[in-house]
Amino acid sequence: MSQALNSESNNLTPITTSAPQRPRVIAVVNQKGGVGKTTTAINLGTALAATGRHVLLIDLDPQGNASTSLGIDKTARQPGSYGVLIGRASLSEAMVTSSVPNLFLVPANRDLSGAEIELVDAEQRAHRLTEAIDILCEFSFPDGPSETSRPGFDYVLIDCPPSLTLLTLNALVAADSLIVPLQCEFLALDGLSELLHTVDVVRSNFNSKLKIQGIVLTMYDNRNRLSGQVAADVRAHFGAQVFDTVIPRNVRVSEAPSFGMPVLLYDISCAGAQAYAHLASEMLRREDAEERPS
Ligand SMILES: Nc1ncnc2c1ncn2[C@@H]1O[C@H](COP(=O)(O)OP(=O)(O)OP(=O)(O)O)[C@@H](O)[C@H]1O
Ligand SMILES: [Mg+2]
Repeated sequence: MSQALNSESNNLTPITTSAPQRPRVIAVVNQKGGVGKTTTAINLGTALAATGRHVLLIDLDPQGNASTSLGIDKTARQPGSYGVLIGRASLSEAMVTSSVPNLFLVPANRDLSGAEIELVDAEQRAHRLTEAIDILCEFSFPDGPSETSRPGFDYVLIDCPPSLTLLTLNALVAADSLIVPLQCEFLALDGLSELLHTVDVVRSNFNSKLKIQGIVLTMYDNRNRLSGQVAADVRAHFGAQVFDTVIPRNVRVSEAPSFGMPVLLYDISCAGAQAYAHLASEMLRREDAEERPS
């Protein structure tokens, strides 16, 4: 794996700092179903982990697709993200290792679908995940930081369900930024204004620092004129907010979950895996540029 996902060969920059700090929290959100949220969360997480960064992926979808796609058995999903939200466990207690070094997962189990109802009268119910991530900031790996990593987590990625209800609200309240996968299909932009409205509401009421990190075009099919048209429309509308990297429709990407692995492990050389490696590298480049004083 470390050879297959060699960060240099994929143009991914290893980090050099070892100062402890809050992980960067990124929610992968779109209330439209089947647009590539889970695929993006898993493969972006894998590509970041390949650079030596410590990544925690939180499966916040009762479907548990991120957990299944990383090969986590249904019997190994307790207490999971549900246990964290209801205050039964911390993130570090709920996390499990994955087959990808440096990538850890808080799995989702079916109980999560009841969490919205269980939390209906709970105080600060939109802040449950924020509080859990605040506690995670105190976590450090027992064997100390590696050459390229900080003592704790560098990134927390949250795979959201296809809805804008309390689970997604918890993710948006906890996040520094969101990544929005958009499928290059008819009605791709459908529902996006609702999502952007929700982001505005979250900014005004809960989390003023929430930023849109980027829109990522997924399942692009260059044999299909509609895909090109959708991509052009989205870029005309959202400009630099759209990542340059486009994820192609690729059969290896759709096969990988049934083998319980990210496509970056399943077939590093396929177009889909390469696109996700490029996406991670573009994201890191953009983050660097943002942090550099102008
Ligand atoms: N680039 C791609 N090429 C081919 N198939 C893909 C690609 N990206 C995702 N898929 C497939 O499309 C389906 C939906 O993808 P995914 O589960 O990532 O979407 P999602 O937005 O998380 O869905 P949901 O809203 O149900 O959580 C899956 O079967 C996945 O394997
Ligand atoms: Mg999903």
